[in-house]
Amino acid sequence: MTLVTEPSSRLMETSPESEGASFSTHITIRELQKRFGNNTLYERFDLDLPRGEIISVFGPNGCGKSTLINMIAGIQPYEGGDIRFDGKTIAETRIGYVFQNYRDALFPWMRAVDNIAYPLKLAGIDARERKRRIDRLVDVFDVVFDLNRYPYELSGGQQQTVSIMRALVVDPEVLFLDEPFSALDYEMTLVMRDQLQKVLRATRTTTLLVSHDLDEAIYLADRLLLLTRRPTRVAAFLDVPITRPRDPSTTTDPEFVALKAQALGIFQAAVRSR
Ligand SMILES: Nc1ncnc2c1ncn2[C@@H]1O[C@H](COP(=O)(O)OP(=O)(O)OP(=O)(O)O)[C@@H](O)[C@H]1O
Ligand SMILES: [Mg+2]
Repeated sequence: MTLVTEPSSRLMETSPESEGASFSTHITIRELQKRFGNNTLYERFDLDLPRGEIISVFGPNGCGKSTLINMIAGIQPYEGGDIRFDGKTIAETRIGYVFQNYRDALFPWMRAVDNIAYPLKLAGIDARERKRRIDRLVDVFDVVFDLNRYPYELSGGQQQTVSIMRALVVDPEVLFLDEPFSALDYEMTLVMRDQLQKVLRATRTTTLLVSHDLDEAIYLADRLLLLTRRPTRVAAFLDVPITRPRDPSTTTDPEFVALKAQALGIFQAAVRSR
């Protein structure tokens, strides 16, 4: 395990963006400024995010995890600063977004297959190509349920699978997932984690995943972004060099346990600090 940045070190104050990390930068965040009324959430926030990796975002309740990924995804505005994707703006970047609550995320009047095809239709992609792309996703996801069903006919896990397929069908440059499994039961969560791991390893999509479950955050991550309380800073940006594919037994590997203890220590220090 490699500690990329020390929590709340002097170094961090001047250069919070993963000092010493060797990665190809995909997303560059500079001087980001965000407040709600008098409540400052981000103040001159800088961060570089690597290409083709799964980045888990973990931090105290209400520290601004959702707001951060939403600002990066262009869903929420910010008062100052700049976010670039290989130098491009969000408008020039293809993204996919998976919402926390699958119940509200799918169009209930559309069959699953039409939900997935929807962003392709919007982009003017013809029926043949739409089918080709969806068939490919059905393969990687090993979909065994009937995509001709309506969302209400599917289980929570199946609906969330449809949401993730809809986000991936555009072949996004960046995928955003905000606590995607938090509305699912535990068994389904385990299945979905592995499915997501498999698909993202295959596509190598730059992925930002918010999770409030530290096990899950580490399990899925190539890197773990730990945030402080508000005003939010980077507490640490840790490399997660645990071998893949990971399976539920990984969570008891000494390497996993040690990294989790380290992350927990940083998290607790970040929660305590003012
Ligand atoms: N639209 C809004 N108006 C006012 N305050 C907001 C708004 N959205 C978020 N906030 C506040 O900003 C802070 C960060 O919210 P955000 O939802 O980004 O945090 P989070 O880390 O995702 O929290 P959680 O762990 O609960 O998911 C919170 O204090 C929240 O109350
Ligand atoms: Mg949130």
